[in-house]
Amino acid sequence: MQRWVTTLTDMTETHVDVQASYPPPPEFSAQANATEALYDEAAEDRLGFWAAQAERLAWDTPFTEVLDWSEAPVAKWFVGGKLNVAYNCVDRHVEAGNGDRVAIHWEGEPVGDARDITYAQLKDEVCQAANTLTELGLTKGDRVAIYMPMVPEAIIAMLACARLGAMHSVVFAGFSASALKARIEDAEAKLVITTDGQFRRGKAAPLKAGVDEAIEALGDSSPVEHVLVVQRTGIEVPWTEGRDTWWHETVPNASTEHTPEAFDSEHPLFLLYTSGTTGKPKGIMHTSGGYLTQASYTHHYVFDIKPESDVYWCTADIGWVTGHTYIVYGPLSNGVTQVVYEGTPASPDEHRHFQVIEKYGVTVYYTAPTVVRTFMKWGRELAFEHDLSSLRLLGSVGEPINPEAWRWYRLVFGGDKTPVVDTWWQTETGGIMISPLPGVTHCKPGSAMRALPGISAKIVDDDGNELAPGTDHGEQASGYLVLDQPWPAMLRGIWGDPERFKETYWSRFAQQGWYFAGDGARYGKDGEIWVLGRIDDVMNVSGHRISTAEVESALVGHSGVAEAAVVGATDEHTGQGICAFVILKSHAKETSREQMVDELRAEVAREISPIAKPREIHVVPELPKTRSGKIMRRLLRDVAEGRELGDTSTLVDPSVFEAIRASK
Ligand code: WT7
Repeated sequence: MQRWVTTLTDMTETHVDVQASYPPPPEFSAQANATEALYDEAAEDRLGFWAAQAERLAWDTPFTEVLDWSEAPVAKWFVGGKLNVAYNCVDRHVEAGNGDRVAIHWEGEPVGDARDITYAQLKDEVCQAANTLTELGLTKGDRVAIYMPMVPEAIIAMLACARLGAMHSVVFAGFSASALKARIEDAEAKLVITTDGQFRRGKAAPLKAGVDEAIEALGDSSPVEHVLVVQRTGIEVPWTEGRDTWWHETVPNASTEHTPEAFDSEHPLFLLYTSGTTGKPKGIMHTSGGYLTQASYTHHYVFDIKPESDVYWCTADIGWVTGHTYIVYGPLSNGVTQVVYEGTPASPDEHRHFQVIEKYGVTVYYTAPTVVRTFMKWGRELAFEHDLSSLRLLGSVGEPINPEAWRWYRLVFGGDKTPVVDTWWQTETGGIMISPLPGVTHCKPGSAMRALPGISAKIVDDDGNELAPGTDHGEQASGYLVLDQPWPAMLRGIWGDPERFKETYWSRFAQQGWYFAGDGARYGKDGEIWVLGRIDDVMNVSGHRISTAEVESALVGHSGVAEAAVVGATDEHTGQGICAFVILKSHAKETSREQMVDELRAEVAREISPIAKPREIHVVPELPKTRSGKIMRRLLRDVAEGRELGDTSTLVDPSVFEAIRASK
């Protein structure tokens, strides 16, 4: 890769050094939670360091051993300790005198539909919900499916499960009834909590009807005993007497007193289904003490949280792990005030996020690169109409953030001053693993930099040998990203499938006993980590290894391109051929397609190498994405190879394919 690229977007055309690093502003460092010393402390005594982090929590019974790795790869953290996760997220803040602090500034999708919930109110509602769930026959160890939009009751339901020691399995409300059915079935959920409907760009769409459809499809073998329904939109719902219960007719009438039981540190907390390389989703299993410790620790240091003054906003959905760890368990265990927003960035128009930041004085904003690129497409003038000066820290998660988007984010959202933390982690890791510390790290745009204190990651070759740092031209072979030491929030298994757990994560480097993350990465010249994306997104063209993310970054490096997705398609000559799908910015639409395609191929050749020139480039109006913003490359590969489309149930808008096919 070359080090000088043309900056894109609607920033002024200048040349910037892609290796330029951004030191933390001195004012930020002076007040930061984390200093360089944190790395030293962790390096000196890793387990002692984690024991100290666990003291962030309130334990009912102290633990006697930090880590038991004797049954690897299933870890036990904080052995012998007992705690209640919900007590840690709610009650103890009230007991500490912070009951009047706002826990959640909830902003509904319809403008004006907003609600503030203090920690004291949250405690009452969680207790009422826990009492109601007990009435419905729920006990510890049971599984509960939560299929809800971003309403406060969804968070309350999760905490009520945690309080009772029942496992929640949150199913993203954008998933289809058949996806819900598969998850209810696999987890044998006794209870489903849902809403009548959900707002989608101003319109009420049914949701409870999907639950009925899923249960219907399960037939006599359905494990579901009850469905608890929150009234959100007021639309009509199908109803089964005896099985279905309204939230508003039960929860508010329940007692606000509920004594939390302390559970073992390894008591299961939740299941979260995620897709693997096969069609069957995996139920990723997380437990209590280790998970909450890492959630709290990373949230405190990576986001530099000051609970007395910060207004934190993570734009994820609770249907994904980011919502679990950085909306529910991290922020609430730290007692901070946060914004929870129900809708999309474009409802009712593109100003919404900026208005929310202004309205609540958001200080820390955590989003995904795809959201940043969407804002880039809309243009920075939008942002300049708003006062965003409350923002002091920005975060990114979900995929590699291309350097241009990183710089644009810092410039337009952060007034060219705020640190930007690019956080690498996975559903399976439970919490952030690789990320800058905002008051310490000299950040390079597009790099997640290095493993957090207490975490150990390596980039290795096929045989497990660690790679050497690259040059500043990025001329370094990519390798496998592995985690070579257990960490507190690590998954404890795949629900009902211990073999798949070992096979998926622990077989690639079984001899060394390392966890293989599935991502490719390379070291930069200062030893920093550049995550290149999933290994299954790495293409092999005539024996050359090329990352889809690198080609995408090059394409997005052209001033006319808003978004790009690249896949490797089978090619009889070269093994794989590179297929690109691009969305153009409006000003570029005046250029002829042929000319654009020529320019883009030249840009890729210039940025990476002529061997990385896409075989085909399709100009498309939209890309197929999941609600979490991930481009579904598997489906693009199907299109590129002219196959029938695979499972499209997780797509936000399956109709994008008609337009994509038409462009071929
Ligand atoms: C995969 C995990 C982590 C919560 C959201 C996604 C990719 C995630 C980054 C990043 C480069 C990233 C990886 C990872 N990824 N964050 N900062 N830089 N890649 O969770 O659905 O479990 O996906 O997302 O490929 O393996 P997930």
